[in-house]
Amino acid sequence: KDNPVAGHKRVLLAAPRGYCAGVDRAVVAVEKALALYGAPVYVRKQIVHNVHVVAELEQRGAIFVNEVDEVPHGAHVVFSAHGVSPAVVNAAAERQLHAIDATCPLVTKVHREAVRFARDDFEILLIGHDGHEEVEGTAGEAPEHVTLVTSPEHADAIEVRDPDKVVWLSQTTLSVDETMETVRRLRERFPKLQDPPSDDICYATQNRQVAIKKVAADADLVIVVGSANSSNSVRLVEVALENGAKAAHRIDYANEMKQEWFDGVATVGVTSGASVPEVLVQEVLDTLGGAGYRDVERITTAEEDLMFSLPKELRRDLDGGV
Ligand code: F3S
Repeated sequence: KDNPVAGHKRVLLAAPRGYCAGVDRAVVAVEKALALYGAPVYVRKQIVHNVHVVAELEQRGAIFVNEVDEVPHGAHVVFSAHGVSPAVVNAAAERQLHAIDATCPLVTKVHREAVRFARDDFEILLIGHDGHEEVEGTAGEAPEHVTLVTSPEHADAIEVRDPDKVVWLSQTTLSVDETMETVRRLRERFPKLQDPPSDDICYATQNRQVAIKKVAADADLVIVVGSANSSNSVRLVEVALENGAKAAHRIDYANEMKQEWFDGVATVGVTSGASVPEVLVQEVLDTLGGAGYRDVERITTAEEDLMFSLPKELRRDLDGGV
């Protein structure tokens, strides 16, 4: 019954995949805020870049806004996992909002690096995607010291104030390989370029890319579960294509898979971005099973057990029994 031309149908399921520690913490922060303070709880920007997560929280009483000036005076507002610039923190304080900062601690770490290098009067070459919320937040820590570098080609073209005083930092969710290429080209032009004190691309982004590389090498098709505005999810599609997958598609939901993707496909690789709940992956596996891809092999390249404590504002109120 299975297509004999395509060979034995199977799924290679990448691990790690899905939720990272920062996303888990941010989603739980909104849930706890709803339980503690009651609906509505306002959230500036999408708490994490996943349409399903946002829709579910909306149903439970979260109201997503673009800027804090849309939040009523004195209300509770959660800042998303991607982080905020000091200007946003100040605007929230001016409106006397009760802010709960769900910025991922690994993003906060990059903010601190930016502050420190700006204080030492470095020009910060921030590698990242123009317009991404994380980049806006990080650059906002020291706008006059930050120059955005968006690609390896862009690295060939940028001008700096003083080539002896430059450091590179990055968004946490980039392609590791492309970022290293950008850095290589920057260093060619600015040999004194300093490295960040530690990796800015986070463990979760790196681990998911390592896992999908291994899967992609043996896959005819890779399915990445994740939303269109999720940087790390979109990178997983690119990394799969660059590492042997014959085709790769990003979907939010299982029902977006198209029959023609599977023509002649024996091995399907599956992974999910760091903001994707596992239930969405399970639906994809169920749908694949229905199409004959019932043999699921897990490809594990790392174990993850990192967990972050909840934002301090929440811990305080949880302890106080508010
Ligand atoms: Fe944080 Fe990385 Fe997740 S920066 S939110 S652990 S993708």
